[in-house]
Amino acid sequence: MAAGALWLILVVCSLCPLVWGDQSFTIDYNRNCFLKDGKCFRYISGSIHYFRIPSSYWKDRLLKMYMTGLNAVQVYVPWNFHEPQPGVYNFRGDHDLEQFLNLTMELGLLVIMRPGPYICAEWDMGGLPAWLLHKKDIALRASDPDYLNAVDSWLSVLLPKLRSRLYNNGGNIISVQVENEYGSFMACDYGYMRHLHAMFRLYLGDDVVLFTTDGNADYFLKCGTLQDLYATVDFGPVANVTKAFAAMRRYQPRGPLVNSEYYTGWLDYWGDKHAVSPADRVSQGLQAILESGASVNMYMFEGGTNFGYWNGDDFPKVYKPITTSYDYDAPLTEAGDPTDKLLAIRSVISKFQPVPEGPIPPPTCKFAYGLVTLNKVGDLVDLLGILSPNDPFVTRYPVTFEDVKQYFGFMLYRNYLTGDVPEQTPLSSAVNGVHDRGYVSVGGNFYGVLERDSLKDVNVTGKEGQCLDVLVENMGRINYGGDLKDFKGLLGNLTLGTDLLENWVIYPLNLDGPISQGWPHIMADHMPKTPQTASRTGPAIYSGAFTITDIGDTYLKMHKWTKGQVWINGFNLGRYWPIRGPQVTLYVPGTILSSSQINNLTVLELEQAPDQPLVMFLDRPILNGTYTGK
Ligand SMILES: *[C@@H]1O[C@H](CO)[C@@H](O)[C@H](O)[C@H]1NC(C)=O
Ligand SMILES: *[C@@H]1O[C@H](CO)[C@@H](O)[C@H](O)[C@H]1NC(C)=O
Ligand SMILES: *[C@@H]1O[C@H](CO)[C@@H](O)[C@H](O)[C@H]1NC(C)=O
Ligand SMILES: *[C@@H]1O[C@H](CO)[C@@H](O)[C@H](O)[C@H]1NC(C)=O
Ligand SMILES: *[C@@H]1O[C@H](CO)[C@@H](O)[C@H](O)[C@H]1NC(C)=O
Ligand SMILES: *[C@@H]1O[C@H](CO)[C@@H](O)[C@H](O)[C@H]1NC(C)=O
Repeated sequence: MAAGALWLILVVCSLCPLVWGDQSFTIDYNRNCFLKDGKCFRYISGSIHYFRIPSSYWKDRLLKMYMTGLNAVQVYVPWNFHEPQPGVYNFRGDHDLEQFLNLTMELGLLVIMRPGPYICAEWDMGGLPAWLLHKKDIALRASDPDYLNAVDSWLSVLLPKLRSRLYNNGGNIISVQVENEYGSFMACDYGYMRHLHAMFRLYLGDDVVLFTTDGNADYFLKCGTLQDLYATVDFGPVANVTKAFAAMRRYQPRGPLVNSEYYTGWLDYWGDKHAVSPADRVSQGLQAILESGASVNMYMFEGGTNFGYWNGDDFPKVYKPITTSYDYDAPLTEAGDPTDKLLAIRSVISKFQPVPEGPIPPPTCKFAYGLVTLNKVGDLVDLLGILSPNDPFVTRYPVTFEDVKQYFGFMLYRNYLTGDVPEQTPLSSAVNGVHDRGYVSVGGNFYGVLERDSLKDVNVTGKEGQCLDVLVENMGRINYGGDLKDFKGLLGNLTLGTDLLENWVIYPLNLDGPISQGWPHIMADHMPKTPQTASRTGPAIYSGAFTITDIGDTYLKMHKWTKGQVWINGFNLGRYWPIRGPQVTLYVPGTILSSSQINNLTVLELEQAPDQPLVMFLDRPILNGTYTGK
């Protein structure tokens, strides 16, 4: 490096503290606005979930948000994504929060942080780690000492990473939310909120703007707000914005109006109609908010994908999990493409503040790679040596996933029949204790499915000594409402006819370990081709391979498959369930594909594979397929 350049760097850096010293972000309660560097300021922000987007696409998405005219992004941090086991942290790769925040800074976007610890977000357990459930009677989101200890330990890791990034310290984080819609939670424990407030102040200092967000009704604001935390609200497109902000004004008589979640679309549930929010309605609602002078965050600006097992469930009463796609009908699609809704929003923003010149980057090329034929690798029960290599748990009565520290995916519960069962006999869970689906086989023959809240029994037959296997799938933990303690597995006993089943052998399955290391493809030479007689029903693994010359995003259609999980090159794309709908295709980010090597596809089909085990890659998504309505 030339001496001159070094000199320049020294000069620039010695100026930095002065520049930082000029940065301030506060609230002006007289003029009812935020004050940025002493001037009235309003943000027009969008929510983006880095944890639902592959990290190599982060910059592209943020650039498109910047080009739309946004001056800020709102960012949740899911605790369970970063602390998978107590005291074990993951901030690498797609979990690299600091890299994401660096990109927001590079692009000149301000950040509104939402570090939880609870975030809702239609994310497994609202972002709380399932290992909190080791203590069965823990009170979550409340002043339970065990909960608070875990929270404090997490915040002592997370919040220090944010401190130097605060706007007042020279960074781009202008405000930080404490908890999330706490007023919707039955506990109403002000002591807990005060505890969080103290922790946030301890790590972030006295001058950062801390806020809360709640539904826009007194009912929610009552338990969600706290002295010294700026109260903001949530609402979607409405005709009368004054009315929509009325409840906020009762709790926050002065200061800027803020809608922290202005809904641009909505999420989908398996079995329900695909949600759509028309662009004109969303852009008109935004215009009304901006005319009122309020600050706004659009939820979502890009939704992204519930890869792997990360989806949550919004309905505590009747379980109805969220689809793999979190497209949200947002202004940027699941694949990060601008929509007409984005253009309509941009045009509204341009009436209030200048938007960057130049065109919005166009949609990226999508590829229809066509058909891939799969072979059956084997029935799941014949692959336990690979997928559950440790000794199984032997218990008299069933235990939960959390009891054996298996937080996601699948466990096989096995019982040996103690006598012949010649007649069709119901296997049932009297207490609705199958969380969330159980795939039932006896002696290797598949009999059907037990499903939480709907399918309470399955008829089976069998012979003494045969295995009665129930493969239990965790479909995602409840993320909203009163009871967040959504234990998984068999929560109660099963009966066969009138007999209570005892003496279980429980195999926790680790599919992602072997599959991410290349199984079963690395064994391809040893693999039989699908025999014509192979059964197509019951849980089984299938695999296939394909080559491509051009890499881009694509959409995987599991045509005529029933339900399961799919991986490409070891990356877990999430759940498919086209017969339940409405989601038919899975988003495949081009970043996981290879043009130099064979691409490997692995499928766990839980119920029934098609006659022809084919899958197809399309160049467009189908998120609005037929749905069962339950
Ligand atoms: C973020 O940016 C800072 C300052 O440029 C740099 O020191 C740090 O290594 C970056 N972190 C990541 C994870 O990229
Ligand atoms: C909007 O709501 C406010 C407060 O409820 C009310 O005073 C006002 O008349 C309403 N405006 C319209 C156009 O309906
Ligand atoms: C189970 O079999 C019995 C007759 O053995 C029949 O009455 C019942 O409807 C069957 N239940 C299911 C769920 O198929
Ligand atoms: C199963 O039934 C036994 C005997 O009634 C009971 O002691 C046990 O608590 C039950 N187990 C579960 C998980 O419900
Ligand atoms: C697919 O599996 C084959 C066989 O193990 C391996 O050689 C190849 O590298 C894998 N492809 C990718 C993209 O990982
Ligand atoms: C599904 O969405 C596509 C693309 O937006 C649209 O062309 C099609 O008409 C929709 N189908 C149904 C059944 O709504």
